[in-house]
Amino acid sequence: METEQKEIYNMPRIGEEAPHFVAKTTQGEIHFPEDYKGKWVILFSHPADFTPVCTTEFMTFASMQEEFKSMNVELIGLSIDSIYAHIAWLRTIKEKIKWNGMENLEVKFPVIEDIKMEVANKFGMISPKESTTQAVRAVFFIDPEAKIRTIMYYPQSLGRNFEEIKRVIQGLQKADAEGIATPANWHPGDDVIMPAPGSCGLAKERVESQDAETYCLDWFLCFKKEKK
Ligand code: BEZ
Repeated sequence: METEQKEIYNMPRIGEEAPHFVAKTTQGEIHFPEDYKGKWVILFSHPADFTPVCTTEFMTFASMQEEFKSMNVELIGLSIDSIYAHIAWLRTIKEKIKWNGMENLEVKFPVIEDIKMEVANKFGMISPKESTTQAVRAVFFIDPEAKIRTIMYYPQSLGRNFEEIKRVIQGLQKADAEGIATPANWHPGDDVIMPAPGSCGLAKERVESQDAETYCLDWFLCFKKEKK
């Protein structure tokens, strides 16, 4: 029994291929990853429809959905609720809820019905010490090759930071495009980190070859300047 439980709650890790699934959603059936070829995907779970923190999260995500689209990112939500509960909740959000300067928000991204917890279990979105019937606030950042690149895992009581979710996508896309890394608290426009040299020769070369575009604090900590 214990082995079975462990398998159910297993979570895929960073660097692994995201589990495949077919699911019924508020926007029709989706096939993952086939329907998302060439796109980044943010797959996120929330504990339940018609709950306060989740409502503020959905409004915030809905207010940013076009911005994510412009970054080649598709959003997919999930909770252990029926499609009818999702529809009723999304209609209530649009028609009745005003919060933090946001109102009349239509959630256009698909929200998965996962009554049987099939998708939630594949992604380890259930944390049984928190709840065996509701998902935690998990966020899976999945790249265009369907590989998991970042995971966030928040408890039910803590609303997520959507600026941080955007920053993660910006950082991952920047690192992929330029082969760099991003320092603590990086934001677009800040200087980025050059990968540490892997040999004594490269370390010497790195320090001696600083130019107008780069600077080193030591051989292992070199930055590339961003154009201001
Ligand atoms: C909420 O979204 O407010 C919530 C959901 C489940 C448990 C606790 C809080």
